[in-house]
Amino acid sequence: MIYLDNAATSYPKPEVVYEAIMNQMREAGANPGRSGHKMAIEAGRQIFAARENVAKLFNIDNPMQVVFTGNATESLNLAIKGVLRPGDHVITTSMEHNSILRPIKTLEKLGIENTIIQCDFAGRVEVDAVRGAIKDNTRLIVMTHASNVTGTLMPLEEVGKVAKEHSILFLVDAAQTAGIFEIDVEKLNIDLLALPGHKGLMGPQGVGILYIREGVEVMHFKEGGTGSRSEELIQPDIIPDRYESGTPNSPGIAGLAKGIEFILEAGLNNIRSHEEALTQYFIDELKKIEGVKIYGPHNAKEQAAVVSININEEDSSEIAYILDKVFNIAVRPGLHCAPYAHKTIGTFEQGTVRFSIGYFNKKEELQQVVAAIKEICSQLH
Ligand SMILES: Cc1ncc(COP(=O)(O)O)c(C=O)c1O
Repeated sequence: MIYLDNAATSYPKPEVVYEAIMNQMREAGANPGRSGHKMAIEAGRQIFAARENVAKLFNIDNPMQVVFTGNATESLNLAIKGVLRPGDHVITTSMEHNSILRPIKTLEKLGIENTIIQCDFAGRVEVDAVRGAIKDNTRLIVMTHASNVTGTLMPLEEVGKVAKEHSILFLVDAAQTAGIFEIDVEKLNIDLLALPGHKGLMGPQGVGILYIREGVEVMHFKEGGTGSRSEELIQPDIIPDRYESGTPNSPGIAGLAKGIEFILEAGLNNIRSHEEALTQYFIDELKKIEGVKIYGPHNAKEQAAVVSININEEDSSEIAYILDKVFNIAVRPGLHCAPYAHKTIGTFEQGTVRFSIGYFNKKEELQQVVAAIKEICSQLH
């Protein structure tokens, strides 16, 4: 199979990730932070090492500000619902995933206003539009680093500056860029960073991360056992314990730690260069095929390694089905949990066929994909 669905989850994972998961379960399979015996201490040590790896990759001062969750969706919900209060206002964009839009829409019912800034046809947002949307009660700006539909990169540095100037919290959804692009929470003025462990960070499914800048008050939404201050009936305010009640996904976190080590060794620049070169090659080849419509910036420098297309007026699910069944190529059709993004680029009815490239993809695979698309187009004419 040619796997081009890395925006949903990366596959395959580095060999060291598979090994780390098995080793954790075999050799440190006790419950971390609980019992105090040797194996429990080793399990806790491995989780702390994972926090340190996350901190290193994103230039986070204090690893204890790294909270493990189940996925990026949980991280975004924790941040959005934990920060906003009735009477507040939040700004976001029309290119966001439902993991941002749905919590924001739910909060409307509690008297939390929102502004969804309209992006252009290629998914770009104007920084001035963000600035212009700020009101006295704006408490949060939340946006993705790159669209999961078109790959379009957002102007994080500029928006981060605007947020800082106005003392507004800045939450970034790095689901499509973490482990591929340099993200420095200090340089970009990021207060809250939501990450999936299972995409570019190369870990297994079932792990997410939320970085919370020291001093930012985020209300927890679950209470329970943390292994700390058990004598108290109220949730401890120690971070990360406050947000991590219940037994963690220790095997998943051990896998994520190795995924990040793999990335640090390979080098973010090398990973990005490889994906950028393949993306540009793919876009250039697609442009030559009659009947193919490409969405987004059409320029690998302005987008993550995500390319959405349509073939004439064909249903995107039909094309993805043919790619899978006839050519053994895995892609994702439809709306990609981002309906406003599809409204923005004019594909709400048709959806798009999304090809998402990962570090393990090779040029020869994309050559085969281009040949497959040519053949589908010629059959349809
Ligand atoms: C931009 C974006 N945000 C959030 C998510 C949600 O990530 P998860 O599946 O880890 O909850 C995704 C996943 O596709 C995404 O692409």
